[in-house]
Amino acid sequence: MAAAPLRIALAGLGTVGGGVIRLLTVNGALIARRAGRPIEIVAVSARDRARDRGVDLSRYEWEDDLALLAGRPDVDVVVELIGGSDGPALALARRTMGLGKGLVTANKAMIAHHGMELAAMAEQAGAPLKFEAAVAGGIPVIKGLREGAAANALTRIYGILNGTCNYILSTMEDTGRDFADVLKEAQALGYAEADPAFDIEGTDAAHKLAILAAIGFGAGVAFDQVEVDGITRIRAADIARAQALGYVIRLIGMAECEEGGTRLFQRVQPCLVPRSHPLAAVDGATNAVVAEGNFSGRLLFQGAGAGDGPTASAVVADLIDIARGDTGPPFSVPVAELEHLAAADGATRTGRAYLRFIVADRPGVLAEITAAMRDAGVSIESLIQQGQADDGGEVLVAMVTHEGPERGVAHALELLRESPSLARPPLVLRLLD
Ligand SMILES: NC(=O)c1ccc[n+]([C@@H]2O[C@H](COP(=O)([O-])OP(=O)(O)OC[C@H]3O[C@@H](n4cnc5c(N)ncnc54)[C@H](OP(=O)(O)O)[C@@H]3O)[C@@H](O)[C@H]2O)c1
Repeated sequence: MAAAPLRIALAGLGTVGGGVIRLLTVNGALIARRAGRPIEIVAVSARDRARDRGVDLSRYEWEDDLALLAGRPDVDVVVELIGGSDGPALALARRTMGLGKGLVTANKAMIAHHGMELAAMAEQAGAPLKFEAAVAGGIPVIKGLREGAAANALTRIYGILNGTCNYILSTMEDTGRDFADVLKEAQALGYAEADPAFDIEGTDAAHKLAILAAIGFGAGVAFDQVEVDGITRIRAADIARAQALGYVIRLIGMAECEEGGTRLFQRVQPCLVPRSHPLAAVDGATNAVVAEGNFSGRLLFQGAGAGDGPTASAVVADLIDIARGDTGPPFSVPVAELEHLAAADGATRTGRAYLRFIVADRPGVLAEITAAMRDAGVSIESLIQQGQADDGGEVLVAMVTHEGPERGVAHALELLRESPSLARPPLVLRLLD
């Protein structure tokens, strides 16, 4: 007798929802063979029933009401592709878990904010909750950490987690154009949203980092503890100066267990990445994640971080796991056994930094900056260049420090805070070692 199909409801028929329908249509037969049974869409929902989505919806039941969609007796698993940390997506997720049904989602914002609550509900119900597509789109990095690297104690997880930022930074690098100009182009090409704030301010990368850190370190999701800085202050001049030193600038999400595994460091920040590092070669809208395991060594996961096809690929991989009977704890370790790690104090870290000042064009300013560095115990490795800033009448001064405590740099900037010579707040970027 043929195995019973896994029957799914699809909530959200936008970029990813459309991709899931196309993928299940094109690859249905091979997926059924690999999953051991067919995966069938039973019912769908979106806001506007009349909208042409370029896919044939006539085979599926339509439900306007998301609660009714989840409650349908012919639905085993709900696929949430609406988005947003709260609102209808969260209500649907809670309803699905409350009914003891499986949930697959691509929603990083919801998992970063409510993942623990939803995972606890899933475990209580013995139902699967899966979110591979929420981190780095089509890259199977959650599977990679949960399964492939499961035997390792991980020391660091870091990477390029936002394709929009990576597209903007690598295009600035290739063309010498400035941020605002490239952002506009990214919006026109569909690489950036009309409201790009979540991407360019680093929030989206922080959502993904918090999820990866939880999976990798067996800890509760601690999104509130992520230090976040975006790419909006990076200028073409910073990229040129980094290039001259043998570096590229990338928005890096970094998570590390510190102090014998008792503290968790999580930061999203533009960093100078040496050209010899694998992440420096990650261009355009691509994502990449590095995980360092105590037995595996350095693992690199790379691929498309967004888009209908790659993201649908991750969503359907989760459905295949569920069809095969995988209902393990969503975060690998049961919620009750996840560590509660205190936030590490970033200021106690050491490293090299790139500092850039935009200053008034008058004598003595450079001496003032270098005196503040000296007084704070920060040693300057190279003063990169002193040249005209983009805006008239101001000068750009950039430098790289020797290895030293982050606290020293913070102190130096504090000494300069009230200085009338600084036309704008300084930019501090870390060098990735
Ligand atoms: N796009 C990507 O490449 C990508 C990659 C990784 C993860 N994700 C995540 O995947 C999720 C979906 O992203 P997307 O890009 O596919 O978004 P999208 O294109 O904006 O689609 C969202 C869908 O949700 C529907 N929707 C909105 N409010 C609803 C409501 N109250 N009830 C029912 N349906 C509602 C919309 O309906 P209408 O079409 O009728 O307006 C639309 O079909 C998000 O969590 C996103 O973060 C996306």
